[in-house]
Amino acid sequence: MAYHSVIIGCGSYLPERVVENKELAATVDTSDEWIIERTGIHRRHIAADGETTCDLAHAAGLAALQNAGVRAEDLDLIVLATATPDHTFPATATQVQARLGMMKGAAFDVHAVCSGFIYALAVADNFLKAGQAKNALVIGAETFSRILDWKDRSTCVLFGDGAGAVLLQRQDGAADVGSPGVISTHLHSDGRYKDHLYVDGGPSSTQSTGYLRMAGREVFKHAVTNLASVVNEALESNNVSADQIDWVVPHQANQRILDATARKLKLDPARVISTVANHANTSAASVPLALSTAVGDGRIKRGQLLILEAMGGGFTWGSSLVRW
Ligand code: UT7
Repeated sequence: MAYHSVIIGCGSYLPERVVENKELAATVDTSDEWIIERTGIHRRHIAADGETTCDLAHAAGLAALQNAGVRAEDLDLIVLATATPDHTFPATATQVQARLGMMKGAAFDVHAVCSGFIYALAVADNFLKAGQAKNALVIGAETFSRILDWKDRSTCVLFGDGAGAVLLQRQDGAADVGSPGVISTHLHSDGRYKDHLYVDGGPSSTQSTGYLRMAGREVFKHAVTNLASVVNEALESNNVSADQIDWVVPHQANQRILDATARKLKLDPARVISTVANHANTSAASVPLALSTAVGDGRIKRGQLLILEAMGGGFTWGSSLVRW
């Protein structure tokens, strides 16, 4: 029996505290104007003291369950993408599982940094297509504020905290570009580029958490090339042309990356969902946060064709073609 997966609901959560660019300019040598001009970011949400990735993931997961009309006890898979887990182990997904009261199936984390949600979606989609699960909660959740060097202006102004989730349900029959569902996923990584974007700590190397380090200009260059290529890969492998795409739901790192990628792909910029102004870069949370925002405000409608894409540390990158 062939199966495919359908996204039947989505949800998100943002910490209450909003930090405007001006507030950062009071503590590091930066300005509202520089941040807006170079990134498009105006503000970001920052988790409260003691508020963890699990808290954010749980809230987004609950919102997705409610939106989908599925009970936690009917879940049999949680795949959670994060680079900022509560603990080295156990996986944050298992803590979310316990809080939701899900007793069966499996819950685990996937780690692909900013591409994490696309990776998690691909993993869950493949589990469902293989018939190994029926209802999967796919979450992207991060508290990057905890791994930022707040004295480094080249990185600390770029990121925020948040979480987004989707409910993926198995349905009979193979995926088809004309019907609702996850039509394809394409993943890539190239470990040679580790030094452009990494955290300078970890349990096995320094026995400390460490801080995010990035060669921004290098990452920018690779991001536009890799994102355009993995979107093209999705279009070509499904015989879809760029003008058939209703919405691009991209990873939200920098408005200039969104614009440059759209230009390279000859995609209408009005068809690109952008939340970077209000959320900044929330790593694995950014794609499901952008998706939930645009579904919530009515831009994304059932039946429309979406392309999801992301690129992050590793490097890792990926795309998914979805009929909403
Ligand atoms: O999510 C994972 C993927 N991550 C990304 O995709 C991030 C990709 N990179 C970027 O978005 C951009 O490269 C940045 C936003 C990080 C930087 O923008 P840029 O236009 O590439 O600037 P730059 O790094 O070339 O720096 C330009 C100048 C430098 O000064 P000099 O050397 O020209 O005097 C920096 O020191 O801007 C300076 N600068 C700042 N000035 C004020 C760097 N950060 C700041 C700051 N405020 N926050």
